Amino acid sequence: MEKGSLLYEGKAKKIFSTNLEDVVHVEYKDSATAFNGIKKAEITGKGRLNNQISSLIFMKLHEKGIPTHFIKQISDHEQLVKQMSIIPLEVVVRNIAAGSFSKTFGIEEGTRLKQTIVDLYLKSDELGDPLITEDRIEILDIAPREEVQEIKEQALKINDVLKNLFNQINIELIDFKLEFGKDGNGNILLADEISPDTCRLWDKDTNRKLDKDIFRRDLGNLLEAYEEILKRLGGVSICT
Ligand code: C5P
Repeated sequence: MEKGSLLYEGKAKKIFSTNLEDVVHVEYKDSATAFNGIKKAEITGKGRLNNQISSLIFMKLHEKGIPTHFIKQISDHEQLVKQMSIIPLEVVVRNIAAGSFSKTFGIEEGTRLKQTIVDLYLKSDELGDPLITEDRIEILDIAPREEVQEIKEQALKINDVLKNLFNQINIELIDFKLEFGKDGNGNILLADEISPDTCRLWDKDTNRKLDKDIFRRDLGNLLEAYEEILKRLGGVSICT
């Protein structure tokens, strides 16, 4: 495989073309951002940890029959994925109240929700990723209603797999964000990453936060927490 030109650079990853048809090369960056890019830092080693954690999780999802863009991890901070046309929605699954949900509705963080909910946000830095409804998604031609249904069903299936996975390593899956895309044949596949950058993960015994809230809220050593997640997931940690 040959790495080609830079196709896209996001806040946490760079995407390069390859000489393989419909395959792109993803490079995880060490940049940390929060509050729509207002808070920024470089954290050496974060890219490697997220790549390793996300690769492990996507392999688990594959084992459970969830269709994803993931092909393989090719180095500590790089992976190959299928080229996709990303559906501009951020799909947030919430098991327990935290973050923006707690703040908006005045519900204490850590309160278990009566049932799991799937919140949809428009993926738009310019507009600040607003919460969006299924009617608005349809009227704005973002995605047809049936596709949104399929995405929500997939998100709940992924939640079942992830809750089980994290439960086995004594971690509570509070909430997480997913992105989906379409491949060349129009199939909807899970895309992007699943890592402590995109999930809230609390130690079940201590409620210690092992996710990006450490950076958002200045709670201590982010790398140590991400290493802990990787270690518990059974990954080999390569120290820099
Ligand atoms: O911001 P909020 O509290 O609603 O986030 C819910 C979940 O989605 C958290 O796990 C957060 O890390 C994730 N998220 C994300 N990217 C965003 C917004 C939220 O990964 N742009």
